[in-house]
Amino acid sequence: MDKIKLGNKSFLYPMPVCILGSDIKGKANFMTISFIGIVNANPGMIALGCNRKHNTYKGIKENKTFSVNLPSVDMIEITDYVGIYAGDDIDKSSLFEIFYGKLENAPLIKECPLSIECKVLQILQLGGYDDVIIGEIIETYSEDKYLTNSIPDIDKIKPFTFSMYNNNYIRLGNKLGDAWSIGENYKQEKHFSHLTLNTKH
Ligand SMILES: Cc1cc2nc3c(=O)[nH]c(=O)nc-3n(C[C@H](O)[C@H](O)[C@H](O)COP(=O)(O)O)c2cc1C
Repeated sequence: MDKIKLGNKSFLYPMPVCILGSDIKGKANFMTISFIGIVNANPGMIALGCNRKHNTYKGIKENKTFSVNLPSVDMIEITDYVGIYAGDDIDKSSLFEIFYGKLENAPLIKECPLSIECKVLQILQLGGYDDVIIGEIIETYSEDKYLTNSIPDIDKIKPFTFSMYNNNYIRLGNKLGDAWSIGENYKQEKHFSHLTLNTKH
């Protein structure tokens, strides 16, 4: 086997790029986050890995709420900016136009095509500096211009991904095929012909 072992690393590409938000003592704070994803469908849940030293983390602990905001490619600079500078050093509360939803203390970003407010369900300590936070999705906000048939449209939202080990932001590509459908081609052309071959033996 020619496989090279790369160890306990985080190479599960593509990594999303989101802006995590929380209120700290009544003031909004935001940070870039890539260790984040959907982990349950019904009820919808998000899990994320956040360093306990981050100000945003402290706000999440304070209120047991947070927001996840999905920036588009034209927000790349401000998205990186809130990941470079900590809330200790700069005031990030006025960088975005903020609105509040059902939870009242999970600050949502108006400029982002998609914003999700979450209530903390569990905080897990799995080792190292990060905690894993699991939040239940309470509400999702978007605008008509980002939707197709009432569903957030990735081509209209234009999110981007992150490559951690060479520090690159990467644009998404074009549609490849229809999910739960294109697999039927594989079954008919390859799997079934293989089965037919077997029956001849
Ligand atoms: C592209 C990118 C991805 C990041 N992903 C994470 C992450 O997944 N978890 C984390 O704890 N910090 C992550 N960070 C670091 C925080 O965003 C950064 O330390 C931020 O300044 C913390 O701000 P705060 O102290 O005001 O909350 C990321 C930063 C960048 C630029």
